[in-house]
Amino acid sequence: MTETTALQAAARAVARTLGDKDIQSLLERVAKEAGPLAAEGRVADYIPALGKVSAEKFGLAVHFHDGREFAVGDADERFSVQSVSKVFNLAIALDWIGDSLWERVGREPSGTSFNSLILLEQERGIPRNPFINPGAIVVVDALLARFPFYTQQLRNMMRRLSGDADVLYDEEVWHSERRHGDLNRAMAWLLKAKGNLSCPPHDTLDVYFRGCSLSMSCRALARAGRFLVGGDGEWPLSNAPGRRRRIHSVMRLCGLYDAAGDFAYRVGLPAKSGVGGGILAIVPSVCSICVWSPALDAKGNSLAGVRALELLVASQIAG
Ligand code: DON
Repeated sequence: MTETTALQAAARAVARTLGDKDIQSLLERVAKEAGPLAAEGRVADYIPALGKVSAEKFGLAVHFHDGREFAVGDADERFSVQSVSKVFNLAIALDWIGDSLWERVGREPSGTSFNSLILLEQERGIPRNPFINPGAIVVVDALLARFPFYTQQLRNMMRRLSGDADVLYDEEVWHSERRHGDLNRAMAWLLKAKGNLSCPPHDTLDVYFRGCSLSMSCRALARAGRFLVGGDGEWPLSNAPGRRRRIHSVMRLCGLYDAAGDFAYRVGLPAKSGVGGGILAIVPSVCSICVWSPALDAKGNSLAGVRALELLVASQIAG
């Protein structure tokens, strides 16, 4: 048994010994302690439709490998998934297209904000990783070029993974983002100029914005992330050997953009954030966690969400 699998087995054993009541009261304590931090952050308003959400919302859901599920606060309220969708696009692209995807996008941390253009020009149109916006646009473009109905396929995949037949695209968020997406438009045209976009920029962006506008609850997203946890079960994605571990690596290094180092230091889990205030985090072999609090820090990550994860890893669930 390797050191990693031994650690995972130990974490799993510890999680198994926790009673349902212990876990529920832990989540309640975490919500109580982390939630108020939202007062120090700001809800994203560069997409006007996102700015309408109350900063006081807080939801937390944990889905264990054995099917046990726990939730507190606003865990059943839908919110805008935003960049958390990028991890699903990546997993789908690796599954349906394969490793040739890496010819068009790197897997190195960028140290830049999610919407920075600087490296794209310097690095001749090959985005550093699939989670910064230009990288995510390339991933969607690769999918759209092969699967013209990818918009429907993504929604269906999210429905299958989460078991929630009501997963929808939020039309208002989608329109709002299309109207205010000039920076993303600039990236798509630059990618095209550098020869790294196959579809018309407008078409690729429409599908990219669709993914961002997915509307899901913490509970549904934690369930959808279950395929990244591992263990028993049949999943519609990522069954290839090593695929899950590789996606975890990209999440660890790039999932929180220019805060990835600080997040790794404080939390140390593979995770993906979104400007809607959601964060999906994976405890390999143990559980999938989704936290939502819309008030963000200066780097666009949920303030209370990061704190909640920090508290959880200090507990027996994820420690
Ligand atoms: O591309 C954008 O601006 C957004 N729709 C997605 C940004 C996002 O969630 C970045 N992550 N923290």
